[in-house]
Amino acid sequence: MQKILVTGGCGYIGAHTIVDLLENGYEVISIDNNSRSTPQLLAGVEKITAKKVKNYKVDLCSYDDTVAVFQENRDVAAIIHFAAYKAVGESVSEPLMYFENNLQSLVNLLKCTKEFNIPHFVFSSSCTVYGNPDHIPVTELTPQQPAESPYGATKQMGERIINDFAHTGSLKSILLRYFNPVGAHPSIAIGEVPLGRPANLVPAITQTAIGKLPTMQVYGDDYPTRDGSCVRDYIHVSDIAHAHTLAVNYMLDGKLKSNVDVFNLGTGNGVTVLEAIKAFEAVSGVKLNYSIGPRRPGDVVDIYANNDKAIKELGWNIKYNLDDMMRTAWEWELRLRDDKTLHTSQNFQLN
Ligand code: WQD
Repeated sequence: MQKILVTGGCGYIGAHTIVDLLENGYEVISIDNNSRSTPQLLAGVEKITAKKVKNYKVDLCSYDDTVAVFQENRDVAAIIHFAAYKAVGESVSEPLMYFENNLQSLVNLLKCTKEFNIPHFVFSSSCTVYGNPDHIPVTELTPQQPAESPYGATKQMGERIINDFAHTGSLKSILLRYFNPVGAHPSIAIGEVPLGRPANLVPAITQTAIGKLPTMQVYGDDYPTRDGSCVRDYIHVSDIAHAHTLAVNYMLDGKLKSNVDVFNLGTGNGVTVLEAIKAFEAVSGVKLNYSIGPRRPGDVVDIYANNDKAIKELGWNIKYNLDDMMRTAWEWELRLRDDKTLHTSQNFQLN
């Protein structure tokens, strides 16, 4: 059984990916310092898979502490690197914290791949690297515009660091550019646990619908789009998770032709903010209390994926539609309200 090391395994996408890896026959360990997550999600992983996953509560910015994990696990076949700060707004007010955390952790991990001869590396990248694209849908070859935030810059730099490092040795890497991951595992045993007031659309919708937030704003309805609100490519987190398993399979089966390859992970469908709200209302039966507010600085107007490459080369097919995304997101919000064991994690505030 091949062992995969997942960093950020206690986080939203990390935990969903661990479920998929375990269900596909891999052994998994996690490194997560729980600065932005809690081990509760790994308890949910165990509930779904009946498998316990060991988490090393280690800060990847400490090279020595990171090395110690690899010294104890010399049979790691691949690393999937999720651990990073990802709040776009926070990155604007705390750029040094973002550059230090997101880049130092990546450099330390890449040093470990050399030190311990780890052959494969999957990097959690983002459609943010495209900035405001000139042409949509974006393919993996769409030129990158300047990042709209320090967060986006750490993803662009992360891809550059991996590319430059990969050409010095034998490491094989895949960069996965997520569009907008939303929803929760169909078992509703794991989901997104926003820290503090959610910046992202879908948790803002579900927290408003359940009354955790009194209301929410649509950030602008005067954009040059079909209904004036921004367009995004929302994709179910479990579809994103399965793409990681397929990427690991692809590398372990020796199919990666070059040192580094890139794949867009989106549905290929653009959905406006107002359409997303209507889909939520239809699925939940809840009339959402929202108002139209001013545009949010840094917002991309319109972006969605051309996902042909991931479908063709990784054999990826998308299982969940927008209604599934909204329904599982809503059911998870209801679970967060009713399940006391999750409340401690809910009280986490951004540090
Ligand atoms: C989506 C749309 C908002 C909240 C995210 C992550 C980023 C990266 C890319 C992974 C925008 C609008 C939102 C609200 C609103 N993910 N909105 N009211 O900005 O595309 O970026 O995906 O790497 O980490 O932040 O997602 O959910 O913040 O916004 O109107 O209360 O919803 O203006 O148009 P975004 P988002």
